[in-house]
Amino acid sequence: MSILSGKNILLGISGGIAAYKSTYIVRLFKKQGANVQVLMTPSSKEFVTPLSLSTLSNNPVLSDFFDKKDKNKLWNNHVELALWADIFLIAPATSNTISKMASARADNLLLATYLSSKCPVYFAPAMDLDMYKNSANQENIKKLISHGKIHIPVNSGFLASGLEGEGRMKEPEEIIDFIINNIKQDLKLYNKKVLITAGPTYEPIDAVRFVGNFSSGKMGFSLAKTAASLGAEVTLITGPTSLNLVDDNVVVVNVVTADQMFVEVKKYFRSSDISILSAAVSDFKPKNRSDKKIKKQNNNTLSIDLIQNIDILKYLGDNKSEKQILVGFALETDNENQNALLKIKNKNLDAIVLNSLNDKGAGFGHDTNKVSIINKNGLFKKFKLKSKSDVSIDIFNELINDFHEKY
Ligand code: CTP
Repeated sequence: MSILSGKNILLGISGGIAAYKSTYIVRLFKKQGANVQVLMTPSSKEFVTPLSLSTLSNNPVLSDFFDKKDKNKLWNNHVELALWADIFLIAPATSNTISKMASARADNLLLATYLSSKCPVYFAPAMDLDMYKNSANQENIKKLISHGKIHIPVNSGFLASGLEGEGRMKEPEEIIDFIINNIKQDLKLYNKKVLITAGPTYEPIDAVRFVGNFSSGKMGFSLAKTAASLGAEVTLITGPTSLNLVDDNVVVVNVVTADQMFVEVKKYFRSSDISILSAAVSDFKPKNRSDKKIKKQNNNTLSIDLIQNIDILKYLGDNKSEKQILVGFALETDNENQNALLKIKNKNLDAIVLNSLNDKGAGFGHDTNKVSIINKNGLFKKFKLKSKSDVSIDIFNELINDFHEKY
């Protein structure tokens, strides 16, 4: 999922030749799953048609304070539009529009909406070389930056006037990347690498049977999704589940056995800042695996020798650096606090998430969970029964609060 998915975006278009590129901007925003409302200045309609933009944005294009075709003359409420927006992009921003933005003039709908807006505003100037360099224009750009508006600097290159130099609006792809990177920088896990394990592991007995458990993987998938929404680059290593996760910031690695999980975890662990092992790794695996299906036995019984799997969490604890944060999950029935602290110590963890066994709606298979989070200093925090997505948010909030000194 893109960081822009579900975001409400106002795209303000002012009248310059670069306005034709705004159709691509709309398309790219829509591709990212955003909702787009286009606002045009009257002169921009000379460069690109409202029909193209409304078709691409799936929304009527707004330009006037009143809809002239509407007999009831409904007012296009600039305040409502501004409140609706999560992001306001003005591209292209001409010298004229920039100057009016800087001096709080509101002689069209785009400008009135701009002046009412509280969301982050990005502006991408586009104009001819000398106009761009003009000191009054440069002062206006600086003024907007000092007002907290986000400047998407121009490119240098071939200009509509035939001249070459600074003044070209950034390309649509560059504008979208600029906005995405800018949003990410404010996220709490920006530039962090997060490793999550999820799901059960299946340990083969023969060609068709395995030792496994009922883990659905929901908790781990939810952790991966939350970490990605906080700006992290996530690797999700999962045992067999029926779940799917498509997100630009999550790499999903599918494994079956604990041994395979161990191999993959080792590959990604060294570069991870935060690792949360929520997989229900099978503690044991059959000592021998039969390549053929085992037949029914004459004596009506079958014994399978099991041997212990490697404890992945412990291995990571033994090999982690000071800077890395390592979190395990645990199921305890009694002496929760004491056992958890012991596990933190024995496995060199930074925290443990305790799953409650006794509460309805918590644990394997459910969409909800009830957890306590214990950190290595013994701080014990109990949470209510919540959706696994809210539990994930609690977990990351705790980690970020607790370990902010490592950031
Ligand atoms: N884990 C692991 N590798 C294993 C077994 C477990 O990485 N072979 C991880 C799990 O992903 C989880 C934690 O270890 O984060 C669970 O620890 P464990 O000691 O197995 O927890 P309990 O099931 O609570 O253990 P015990 O039966 O020892 O109380």
